[in-house]
Amino acid sequence: MKEKLEALRQQALQELETLHTPKELEEFRIRVMGKKGPLTELLRGMGSLPAEERPQMGQLVNQLRAQLEEKLHEKEAAAQTALKEQKLKDEALDITLPGKAAKTGGLHPLNIVLEDMIDIFQSMGFDVVDGPEVETEHYCFEALNVPKDHPARDMQDTFYLGDDLLLRTQTSAAQIRVMEQRKPPIRIICPGRVFRADEVDATHSPVFHQVEGLVVDKGITMCDLKGVLEQFAHEIYGPDTKVKFRPSFFPFTEPSVEVDVSCSECGGKGCRVCKGSGWIEILGAGMVHPRVLRGCGIDPEVYSGFAFGIGLDRLTTTRYKISDIRLLFENDQRFLEQFD
Ligand code: DAH
Repeated sequence: MKEKLEALRQQALQELETLHTPKELEEFRIRVMGKKGPLTELLRGMGSLPAEERPQMGQLVNQLRAQLEEKLHEKEAAAQTALKEQKLKDEALDITLPGKAAKTGGLHPLNIVLEDMIDIFQSMGFDVVDGPEVETEHYCFEALNVPKDHPARDMQDTFYLGDDLLLRTQTSAAQIRVMEQRKPPIRIICPGRVFRADEVDATHSPVFHQVEGLVVDKGITMCDLKGVLEQFAHEIYGPDTKVKFRPSFFPFTEPSVEVDVSCSECGGKGCRVCKGSGWIEILGAGMVHPRVLRGCGIDPEVYSGFAFGIGLDRLTTTRYKISDIRLLFENDQRFLEQFD
């Protein structure tokens, strides 16, 4: 029986050396040390031994059980440590890898230019006001001295929404709203979207943007108009920019002008941006027509004023050399990312 015990010790210890995973060790425990295992069998077999040998054999079997238990514990602890190390290895983070940059949004080019414009006019004391995009004939035309048969009112130019409602074709409508609500001195700009039933091409869009301006006070003259608009052009396009005032016509101003600036791209020599002319038209302006002032309850004998309407899209396309106005409205990320 002693030999059997010795053989079992040898075999069990040898086998234990080859086991590594917790699963293998558990199986070993059940198989060797369990109720049906050889160890229990040995204990059971003790019944056939002479009584005086039993205590010694019992001791030996218990010793073997203790020895195997200890070895098993050792192996199990080692298996747990190995498992933990493997897990740590598998989950290791390489903190030296470069991270992924989070994309941040940027301003739309129209907004970049608009913010510059707002800065310039605010520094000259202008307030920024808002006006509705859906307007009535009164604000968009009537009060601006645009007669009933004026082509601007034609269905081909104006999006009508109903009998009297339309999408504003010009931010000039905001002038009237402001003059009805405020009394002079008035100094405002009103940026916003305007709408015309134009065919879409590289230079036309049914939606575009204007920045309206209005100044009304005692003693305002054409010199004030020139000074403010020249200052604006120099700040937007640079101090060497030449500014040209051309006589023009608008129903709501008298006299009226259109303002060109020397092309910032070619310095006036003529290029693709200015279509060879050396000049870029950026706005319409004029002295507010007395009839318009009077219609808003402002006495033209006491007050005078000037107004202007700047084309924001034109300013933006020329600044960034954008050859097609449609790019401003398509929101193609590949285009917009260039302005981040
Ligand atoms: N509303 C004009 C347009 O859409 C631009 C304009 C011209 C606005 C003269 C004005 C102005 O306020 O005084 O073409």
